[in-house]
Amino acid sequence: MAQQRLSKEETLDRRLKLIGQSCRLFYSDDPVKILRARGQYLFDENGTRYLDCISNVQHVGHCHPSITKAAAAQMDLLNTNSRFLHDNIVRYAERLASTLPKKLCVFYFVNSGSEANDLALRLARQYTQHEDVVVLDHAYHGHLTSLIDISPYKFRKLTGQKEWVHVAPLPDTYRGRYRENHPNPGQAYADTVKDLIEEVHSRGRKICAFFAESLPSVGGQLILPQGYSAKVAEYVHSAGGVFVADEVQTGFGRVGSHFWAFQLQGEDFCPDIVTMGKPMGNGHPLACVATTVEIAGAFTANGVEYFNTFGGNPVSCAIGLAVLDVIEEEDLRGNALKVGAHLKDLLTELQTRHQTIGDVRGVGLFVGLELVQDREQKTPATKTAALVVKRLKEEDRICVSTDGPWESVVKFKPPMCFSMDDAKVVAKCIDRILTDISASGLRLGKEDI
Ligand SMILES: Cc1ncc(COP(=O)(O)O)c(C=O)c1O
Repeated sequence: MAQQRLSKEETLDRRLKLIGQSCRLFYSDDPVKILRARGQYLFDENGTRYLDCISNVQHVGHCHPSITKAAAAQMDLLNTNSRFLHDNIVRYAERLASTLPKKLCVFYFVNSGSEANDLALRLARQYTQHEDVVVLDHAYHGHLTSLIDISPYKFRKLTGQKEWVHVAPLPDTYRGRYRENHPNPGQAYADTVKDLIEEVHSRGRKICAFFAESLPSVGGQLILPQGYSAKVAEYVHSAGGVFVADEVQTGFGRVGSHFWAFQLQGEDFCPDIVTMGKPMGNGHPLACVATTVEIAGAFTANGVEYFNTFGGNPVSCAIGLAVLDVIEEEDLRGNALKVGAHLKDLLTELQTRHQTIGDVRGVGLFVGLELVQDREQKTPATKTAALVVKRLKEEDRICVSTDGPWESVVKFKPPMCFSMDDAKVVAKCIDRILTDISASGLRLGKEDI
């Protein structure tokens, strides 16, 4: 029976009562109620259109007709768990394998990025028989207990750091320990991991894995310096550990030039485990772990079955296949390269006129705009960033959000169909808002508003 639609106020009221308060809404002061979406656009209950600059989940575009069609057709035919033989799971694994280096040829399908990272941890532990994990500062790897433990972004606010977790500095060449003017920041930051491993060894502990996003997102939309990952992998391997690349936010062509963001680090680097999620199912819960024959073999050898009720079911895999098809057919990697470069150029031009823009960085449609109170000290302009987010939503119906240790980086990770015109509109609106903020007497450059 068709139900009458709730008013926005009623929905909010009921949600506050029924849904755990820690499940926060975007724009919690004045949430947006979205009823439908298409491409890079969201529409609220009044039909007002919002430009989505942050959904790295609806990767090929919201409600893409090819994805909906593939999902509905497979649902109409069969959906079972993956213990029956079915073509979709093998076809999908083959297609994923063709995007990855040859050694990453065994797949485990799961339902979320968190499940993928938790399984990666289990695989690493089983293979290495070691326990300790090195992670990057401010990293987030998921919401399961095991992953809160390896996510400084979360555990710092909770019970703190476990004895088996070790935090390496973020390789941030804008405001970190080694900056753009360093002759070899990749090597220098990799050596911080080497030092950490030596310290761990001196305490009689052993390294199981190094976990990192291929482009630290929560850490502030950072681009790893060249040479970093290959060097870290060398150090981690000689300590008997494995390198886990978290591609949950960054995979599936977002960087444009490559299918996976870890490939930006060059051909001499290949992780031992890659985890994927968000964009994989275009909104359908689909995630995966890819690894080597050796690591998978060690996991099998423990004799315990790995069973995941929903992971890799025929519908999920049909959707995954359709996503890969759309990325190719619509040349979304090419679009990410072209539109991402244009967005970066437009924002870089704004930087010449707005002192508050400290840095513009990114690859493909993974772009960050770091706001500072003054360019010399690089003091984060957290409040300005929050105001930009709020005004873009209220005045221009553009959805962006912030990231980074001080929430001072305005991030852009839109659906991959984001257009040149969308980029122009976004830059124009940011220009107007920053001009207005500084003209209204808010002394940017001296203090955050
Ligand atoms: C880098 C990274 N890894 C893992 C996860 C966890 O994914 P999920 O929310 O699908 O469990 C997230 C989610 O934001 C993420 O950003």
